[in-house]
Amino acid sequence: MTILENISLKNYNTFGISVNAKRFIEINSVEELQKLLLKEKALFLLSGGSNMLLTKDIEKLVAHINIKGISIENEDENIVEVTVNAGENWHEFVLWCVNKNYGGIENLSLIPGKVGTCPIQNIGAYGVEVKDTITKVSAIEIKTRKITSFTNEECKFDYRNSIFKKETKDNYIIISVSFKLTKKHHVFHTSYGAIETELSLKKIITPNLKDISDAVIAIRKSKLPDPKELGNSGSFFKNPLINVKHFEKLQKSLPTIPSYKISENELKIPAGWLIEHAGLKGKRFGNCGIHEKQALVLVNYGNASGIEILNLAKKIQKIILETYEIVLEIEVNIVE
Ligand code: EPU
Repeated sequence: MTILENISLKNYNTFGISVNAKRFIEINSVEELQKLLLKEKALFLLSGGSNMLLTKDIEKLVAHINIKGISIENEDENIVEVTVNAGENWHEFVLWCVNKNYGGIENLSLIPGKVGTCPIQNIGAYGVEVKDTITKVSAIEIKTRKITSFTNEECKFDYRNSIFKKETKDNYIIISVSFKLTKKHHVFHTSYGAIETELSLKKIITPNLKDISDAVIAIRKSKLPDPKELGNSGSFFKNPLINVKHFEKLQKSLPTIPSYKISENELKIPAGWLIEHAGLKGKRFGNCGIHEKQALVLVNYGNASGIEILNLAKKIQKIILETYEIVLEIEVNIVE
């Protein structure tokens, strides 16, 4: 365990923001993490860096969680329970499952990041959320260095939310996540329009897990920028909820506004649509901008600072508020 000094974090965050870590340590095992916590509790935890916007150098010791390993906990002929250590790459784990014919997370193909952070924001795409398969999240309590675990219910999962973003924020370090996956009788989620279109283009009538994964990969590649080519952090904002009265008022002047019913009184509106129809899609502001194919994604054209991107986000929030009276909530973690 070596502490390095003045390390650039540009390659450790998918936005590609150039800030430095004053001190940086790579953590490869739970034992290393427990040992480190004996000496130092004020850590800045870095995982895949795919859901954060860094706006300044990091003063705290940056701990890069790289604990690897996948193990099978239980299995019978229908179900397998797999425990995956926090430092495993999410998409590689999805492909590992698809190759083994373990079903449940194929719709979550190509999401950047590592397994340890997937429960924090309850990653979701194309009709599936990771909460649908998680059985257990194991974590170290920073104060006591004890390993504890959270059941699915205890994680209090919600849309892009969990207990790890709220009550227990900064108290635990996730070390592994367990998933319950199907070996037979897979439940396919193909109702998301673009998946059906993609499958029918390939004339696939009875898809397998790989067909779904391939379809999702193709859809994501067509809309979402590859962080290796254009820095970004996926959806920058959450899709907002509004009440029926508000929606009906908006519909009078915007008859094509899309919506998804959430409850009797609430509707979810795609923020990407709101941003596009406010005339912002594809617009560039200095070193950053709004992606030309998906208006919910902010992009770094190369040399943007975190502050520039944050200022753009605030500008978008202001325009959306003035245009639709809707508050857009930032989904990405802002490190200020
Ligand atoms: N839309 C537009 N213009 C745009 C973008 C979207 O009009 O530029 C409208 C379209 O009507 C489209 C609808 O928004 O039908 C939904 O768009 P899309 O399917 O791209 O999904 P999204 O609501 O914009 C959410 C997630 C994504 C996830 C997709 C697919 C959030 C914040 N984002 O985006 O997650 O991949 O659904 O399930 O919920 C992420 O969190 O980083 C992320 C990429």
